[in-house]
Amino acid sequence: MVIEKICCLGAGYVGGPTCSVIAWKCPDIKVTVCDKSIERINQWNSDKLPIYEPGLDEVVKECRGKNLFFSTDIANSIQEADLIFISVNTPTKTIGNGKGRAADLKYIEGAARMIADLATSNKIVVEKSTVPVKAAEIIMKILRANTKPGVEYQILSNPEFLAEGTAIVDLVESERVLIGGEDTPEGQKAVQALCWVYEHWIPAKNILTTNTWSSELSKLAANAFLAQRISSINSLSAVCEATGADVSEVARAVGRDSRIGPKFLEASIGFGGSCFQKDILNLIYLSECLNLPEVAAYWQQVVSFNDYQKNRFTRKVIESLFNTVSDKKIAILGFSFKKNTGDTRESPAICVSKTLLDEGAKLHIYDPKVETDQIYYELTHPQVTNEPEVVRKNIEIHNSAYSAVTGAHALVLCTEWDEFKELDFKKIYNVMMKPAYIFDGRKILDHEALINIGFHVQTIGKRLSRTGSIRAQGSQTLP
Ligand code: UDX
Ligand code: UDX
Ligand code: ADP
Repeated sequence: MVIEKICCLGAGYVGGPTCSVIAWKCPDIKVTVCDKSIERINQWNSDKLPIYEPGLDEVVKECRGKNLFFSTDIANSIQEADLIFISVNTPTKTIGNGKGRAADLKYIEGAARMIADLATSNKIVVEKSTVPVKAAEIIMKILRANTKPGVEYQILSNPEFLAEGTAIVDLVESERVLIGGEDTPEGQKAVQALCWVYEHWIPAKNILTTNTWSSELSKLAANAFLAQRISSINSLSAVCEATGADVSEVARAVGRDSRIGPKFLEASIGFGGSCFQKDILNLIYLSECLNLPEVAAYWQQVVSFNDYQKNRFTRKVIESLFNTVSDKKIAILGFSFKKNTGDTRESPAICVSKTLLDEGAKLHIYDPKVETDQIYYELTHPQVTNEPEVVRKNIEIHNSAYSAVTGAHALVLCTEWDEFKELDFKKIYNVMMKPAYIFDGRKILDHEALINIGFHVQTIGKRLSRTGSIRAQGSQTLP
């Protein structure tokens, strides 16, 4: 089976970059990315794309209008496609059964019903969104209960492993592409058809095929493992702060063991992003439904520890500022959940900001890529506060770090943007209130230099004194 036309439902952080790269690498395939939001599609068709992702602009510019299209004409795109990716959002349920843990599959269900209504020829339907195990079964049930004569469906699971900020590199140089399908001749034919698409640029050895449920669970497992590493190193960061050990040295030593490896051992203010917490909560919910409470409790601890880490950091800020931040001006540098993205979903900066606002602080926020409205949205929507007007009065958004810190009692660094390392801290010291405090939630600044300028500095996983770091007695720097 040859794939000539692909349709993608959902032009978000996953669907947009993934399909742009498919179009770029497969000039023989027409790729149409659809969204029900006209505004989103207009942005994809403009010079300012709706998401910031290094390298994305170039790829879109090269293919848009040739074999890559962004459209709201969902009906036509579905009808002409051989293969349809479902890349719609799967937020955590906020009401009803499984509230706060289970994924809300209403958008997945909506997309499946749309396909069932509109399709007039055979389709391979590929679930791309991160979904709970057995979501493919839901899609299958809806499609097969609504089959029309001459229309057959194959459902595949093809989870996306890209990380934001490095999406294009991750897609172009994928370590692995995972495709799960039904163990029937037709199922395997569909798997091979999708393999053929990826083989345009991914070496065949990097394309793993499996059954649908293993594929779905692998995605949750990968994110759970990654998040668990961060909670593990963050738990040690607390031990380091209490003992005088340095978490970076510990991570370096531990990561040298090839069984452990050096990546994803960066202690931080806590993990954020749309995937980690949501996927672990899915795994917890699944375990509870399967009557495996010990498994649920094991993974719950990874999420609970992350909340503790975010709160621990914020508590440190408040305690250092003489236990009161009421009416104090505090500069928040960085609002996205990590560098090189404008995405704020589950960003630890939200938790830090909210607590400081609750304590009466006035926040002056700067992020290089997050839009002003997005910051207001995150801090004022009903699940965060029931006093949006008060919150609005107490936040000011800046377009440079220097203007945000002017007159501030403290600078709280929440995101590891490279430009923060290049700031002129002497200049910053001169315009801040004294004593001037810096809380480096990402361990990226030169703490000794800051202390020498006159700052009081606190960071994650390392105890600092005004004169410099305290090394544990007898410790040696590893090569
Ligand atoms: C361990 C560490 O590997 C070693 O670096 C340290 O110095 C001492 O502790 P050891 O206990 O001798 O070494 O054996 P190891 O191979 O780590 O296995 C420990 C246990 O884990 C065994 O019971 C093993 O069967 C089990 N294991 C190991 C698993 O169940 N699954 C695995 O994937 C690996
Ligand atoms: C993650 C997975 O990496 C990706 O494979 C999956 O497809 C989607 O979820 P993403 O959430 O975009 O990607 O970013 P990631 O780089 O994983 O970072 C997640 C969070 O963990 C960020 O807040 C980041 O700052 C934090 N982090 C990451 C740490 O605190 N320490 C680390 O060592 C690594
Ligand atoms: P992700 O990070 O998973 O890509 P996003 O929220 O960034 O999630 O994007 C999901 C997109 O899917 C949104 O732009 C939303 O409007 C779109 N969407 C949801 N349901 C449908 C649907 N049935 N058809 C087309 N687009 C949809």
